[in-house]
Amino acid sequence: MKVSYFLAPMAELSHRALRELIEDFGGCDSYFTEMISATALFAGGPFEKWYIDAGPKPEKCVFQLVGSDSGQISRAAAFLDRLECAGIDINMGCSAPLIRKTGSGAAWMASVDRAGELISQIRPLVKRRLSVKLRIGFKDDFEYLVKFCRRLEAEGTELITLHPRTVTEKFKRLARWEYVGALRQELKIPVAGNGDIANAQELIRRAGGPCDAVMAGRAAVRQPWIFAEARERGGRYIPNLEETGLRFIELLTKYQPVEFHVSRAKRFFGFFCDNLKWGTYLKNQLNREEGLAGIELVWKEYFKQNEN
Ligand SMILES: Cc1cc2nc3c(=O)[nH]c(=O)nc-3n(C[C@H](O)[C@H](O)[C@H](O)COP(=O)(O)O)c2cc1C
Repeated sequence: MKVSYFLAPMAELSHRALRELIEDFGGCDSYFTEMISATALFAGGPFEKWYIDAGPKPEKCVFQLVGSDSGQISRAAAFLDRLECAGIDINMGCSAPLIRKTGSGAAWMASVDRAGELISQIRPLVKRRLSVKLRIGFKDDFEYLVKFCRRLEAEGTELITLHPRTVTEKFKRLARWEYVGALRQELKIPVAGNGDIANAQELIRRAGGPCDAVMAGRAAVRQPWIFAEARERGGRYIPNLEETGLRFIELLTKYQPVEFHVSRAKRFFGFFCDNLKWGTYLKNQLNREEGLAGIELVWKEYFKQNEN
């Protein structure tokens, strides 16, 4: 069976400009949007239209929702389901303390019943694929994870993405990929695995293990060609890094509101600069800039001064 490749949902990163860039290189199977706040969606804010832009391939775009109120999340899911997209994903994995404190993200993992009731409320309102992204749980307790996911499955969840770390674990401890295969054994629905994919070779390796999809996050920002490279069975892709950076700036200008340009550029280059010999130095230089034009100049200057 063909294993799918997913782009992970990442706040301030997995927006349309990054998706366009990844598509330029050949794309992946599903693009998860950055988390969209169910509350903010109906508050009439000026930026919501940017968050719900499913381009360039709406048929591959999965809107991820975050929130704490089941009524609000259900209403938001019903609204997004009417737009062209591949599915709706519920964020039950975000461990950021500010998100958890409000009862959102990973806070859902504290109660099987609360999470189950949320899915049962959303299910009749959504025709497209309904999925959940989550972690192991608050403790390293596989039995609890299985119980939690079985309930989600019974309520109509069609896909689960497991980022196999506990809620309080940061990136330092490695993701426990053995949990992905073990969870898949316990469920009837597909299970995607996510965490610590560093390059195309690892994407291929994980896809060869027991899972239905492999999701990459940070590595796909560093190497937007990672999925294309994996599809070509690891055939080395050597893109022009200067041009790729400039293309990203162009896409950012086109597909993100001006208020987001600088913060999103810094987010992206914070990862993309890792491809360069003097990447840390360049990152610091870019972070000092206050406008996108300045960021572009510093970027070009680096390539004038250094061969890569
Ligand atoms: C900057 C950043 C933002 C993230 N935002 C989200 C998010 O909005 N929703 C979500 O479910 N996970 C989010 N995550 C977690 C990623 O989806 C993913 O689970 C994590 O980065 C591990 O995958 P990786 O090792 O391939 O990066 C974020 C991660 C990062 C680094």
